[in-house]
Amino acid sequence: MFDFLTGPMFWLSISICIIGMIVRIVLYIRGLNWQMDRVAYRAHPGPGFKGAVNSIIRWLVPFGTYSWRKQPFMTIIFFGFHIGAVLVPLFLLAHNIILREKIGIFLFTLNPAAADILTWMVVMSALCLMLRRIALPEVRILTTAYDYFILVLSAAPFITGLLARYEMGDYTFWLTVHILCGEALLIAIPFTKLSHIVLFFASRAQLGMDFGIKRGGMKGKNMAW
Ligand code: HEM
Repeated sequence: MFDFLTGPMFWLSISICIIGMIVRIVLYIRGLNWQMDRVAYRAHPGPGFKGAVNSIIRWLVPFGTYSWRKQPFMTIIFFGFHIGAVLVPLFLLAHNIILREKIGIFLFTLNPAAADILTWMVVMSALCLMLRRIALPEVRILTTAYDYFILVLSAAPFITGLLARYEMGDYTFWLTVHILCGEALLIAIPFTKLSHIVLFFASRAQLGMDFGIKRGGMKGKNMAW
């Protein structure tokens, strides 16, 4: 089982994730309405690019947008979750060793204490995100079992990673479950709303271009809209 998960399943899940994300981006761009959305983007690449970068950066900075400032609790748990969810899988020493073995690349490595703190942050923040969905009526009304499933799927590799790391019971068992959960997450990314990992950038770039060009961004510069 362990050999299968670290061999063929590793390659299969990584390939599905990467190819799937590329397909999602292509489908997103092809799905835009060329008459309504894209026509002005090509004609004004400068303001469009500036608007896109501006929009992405503002949303990636904690409290960088009006919406983030309006919901400080959500902002803290959101960034608490996402900072660890992005950094730990990529920069944990143990993951880097596997990447070097399999692909021959070695990325920057997180200090083990920082990796522990970030992983705990992910787990605690995921719990708060779940409680938020239960506690706030305006969020609860929009929440379905699917939202809880995605949260559990996202937190599972971190929870099982901690169980293995602290050797709670059988280390090999938890390590196997951890790898299984990580690969399930990778496979789920292109097919679920976890595709936001790339579609966030696509939609923010598109909206940023829209505002940078059409909706006042080029005001006074002979722009028709
Ligand atoms: C660069 C990468 C990522 C970006 C830019 C990003 C961005 C976002 C955004 C904008 C939201 C919506 C927040 C809202 O409801 O207002 C969100 C939600 C979420 N993201 Fe990500 N994300 C990224 C990576 C990840 C990763 C790697 C995971 C999983 C390990 C993940 C799991 C989630 C989950 C579970 C939610 C829903 C939280 C909830 O239930 O309220 N994201 N993300």
